[in-house]
Amino acid sequence: MLLPPTPSALRRAAAALKRGEPVAFPTETVYGLGANALDPEAVRRIFEAKGRPDDNPLIVHVTGLPMVRRLVRELPPAARALAARFWPGPLTIVLPKRSRVPDIVTAGLPTVAVRVPDHPVALALIEAAGVPIAAPSANRSGRPSPTRAAHVAADFPGLLVLDGGPARHGLESTVVALGNPPRVLRLGAIPVEELRTVLPGLVVATKARARAESPGMRHRHYAPARPLVLFRRSRAAALREALAVDPRALLLCADADARLFPGWRPVKLGATPVEIAHDLFDALRTQRRGSVLLAYALPRRGLLRAVMDRLERAATRVV
Ligand code: TXA
Ligand code: MG
Repeated sequence: MLLPPTPSALRRAAAALKRGEPVAFPTETVYGLGANALDPEAVRRIFEAKGRPDDNPLIVHVTGLPMVRRLVRELPPAARALAARFWPGPLTIVLPKRSRVPDIVTAGLPTVAVRVPDHPVALALIEAAGVPIAAPSANRSGRPSPTRAAHVAADFPGLLVLDGGPARHGLESTVVALGNPPRVLRLGAIPVEELRTVLPGLVVATKARARAESPGMRHRHYAPARPLVLFRRSRAAALREALAVDPRALLLCADADARLFPGWRPVKLGATPVEIAHDLFDALRTQRRGSVLLAYALPRRGLLRAVMDRLERAATRVV
């Protein structure tokens, strides 16, 4: 059930959370499927509803540092510096958890991932519920993340969804673990270059390291409505050939690359990195006529590096 985020809808959603029921809500990145983070039974229902593997920990959403302090054992200077610059916003920080945080939230890890969403409805909901909210992206496990309330309703018919319109970023938060060196476990809406202005030593974890430290990186993700073949930037000719033999194929590429594929009108992804990130999941979810999605790789810089991470994980094959 989609509800505009009126004060009465917010009260209703907060009451549902307090009863241990799941509620979907908008954030600036993607929609979240929320539960009271301090109620293990409520959190278990989130795993169940999503069909989420139980080794994949959840992000806990809070209104600010005072609430973080109640969940973590320490808040190192690097965390405080990141928080000062990027919160509220699409940055998730992994910190040592207090015992108060149920093990089911962190999938048994000794750390908890926290962030302050930059969305008035998300913040109002946490405030009204009076508890931190554990929330994965509000999609069935393995599907592309939801950037619109209708995407959530498609995956969870009957669920209470606060409809905040299309998500501003359309790409999930960047997940950072501190330590020596601090590392990005999941690329996301804040580019690494920008995080390095605060943490110059920040590295991007190798895929193997990210999979070891961030279980979510091990699982199949973002499966589009039909097979997706990703062509590297050196393989434009191969992509042209594939298009020539299958007139029902759908082309997915940045506006700037469309001229490489004359005669084909690409599924709209937008011109700027911000537009491309914003439209990617919607493009992967939208049902269209066509046999297969043929995607042309994007240059791995700034925000597009995170978009490429999602495309690679969505792809059935890379050419
Ligand atoms: O933008 C976002 O981050 C959205 C919105 C709703 O906030 N949430 C989201 O949650 O994308 P989810 O569950 O789809 O992805 C959570 C990611 C996974 O890759 C998971 O492995 C990682 O965060 N994560 C959570 N807790 C962790 C921990 N303690 N240590 C390492 N990684 C963790
Ligand atoms: Mg997710």
